[in-house]
Amino acid sequence: MSESIRESVSSSHQPTVSDNFKPTALTENLNRIYDQGFASDFHEDFFRHSGFSNFGYWQPGITEGDVAAENLVLHLLKPLQPIQGQILDVACGQGGTTKTLAKFVPAEQITAINISQQQLTAAARHTPGAHFEQMSATRMRFADNSFDGILCIEAIFHFETRRRFLNEAFRVLKPGGWLALTDVQFRVRTPARIIPPANHFHRLEQYPAFYTDAGFEQPLIERALKPTWASCSKALGLYGRKRRQHKGFKPEAMREWVMNEMRCRLYDAVIQDYLLVWVRKP
Ligand SMILES: C[S@@+](CC[C@H](N)C(=O)[O-])C[C@H]1O[C@@H](n2cnc3c(N)ncnc32)[C@H](O)[C@@H]1O
Repeated sequence: MSESIRESVSSSHQPTVSDNFKPTALTENLNRIYDQGFASDFHEDFFRHSGFSNFGYWQPGITEGDVAAENLVLHLLKPLQPIQGQILDVACGQGGTTKTLAKFVPAEQITAINISQQQLTAAARHTPGAHFEQMSATRMRFADNSFDGILCIEAIFHFETRRRFLNEAFRVLKPGGWLALTDVQFRVRTPARIIPPANHFHRLEQYPAFYTDAGFEQPLIERALKPTWASCSKALGLYGRKRRQHKGFKPEAMREWVMNEMRCRLYDAVIQDYLLVWVRKP
């Protein structure tokens, strides 16, 4: 690990709470939602306690949430092989993504950040040796030109704002470094306490400018609604029904099933597209 990164990241395997992590109304709300959601039996069973929480990239033969979730990371990393150097996992959640990165580079070369201390604690258990720190993607405490690659799965639409994060990502990447991420285009304005209004865009043609305005090269974009959310929605529906049949008509089982159905229908209605993005700093 380079000295510049070491200055700001604990070398211990336990996550660090940085002194200057400043929660905002948005990050506090997101932590409430995600911490509670990730702790639910439904979530943990669907992802089989893997540390993942994303829609996945569903291909023939994949039947489990965690396998699809890891496949999303593998699909993003495929064109970037060989993965080398210092890698930053932004919005690592409970660390499934960090664990997958550690299949390609030694854990000591990976730094993972997230806004939730609860999630970081879980993530640190999955990948001993990696460095975890509570930090917002939009206020990174790393020196310029610190990382060879940045991965950010299914989180950029939450950041205050997408543009601020891309400026930060550009700053902390070394020249020639890569950024690989997934993003969501929404059909309608979602509540500002979940997605900042500035992150909405209406036409896909507007989207590459988010990257080029920050100094990046033209991004490569894959529109992937079908293998991601559309397939995940079906898998969640099937899983929810099987679970309710198994548990019978107890009030808790009914509540869990209804919540899952409502969440799926809501996401079906608001998600317009799911984007996979690869881009480099010149
Ligand atoms: C859908 S989860 C994705 C987790 C993980 N990347 C995965 O694929 O399993 C979104 C994550 O974004 C994190 N997040 C939201 N806003 C953030 C911010 N400003 N900085 C860092 N992480 C953030 C949340 O805490 C949550 O863990």
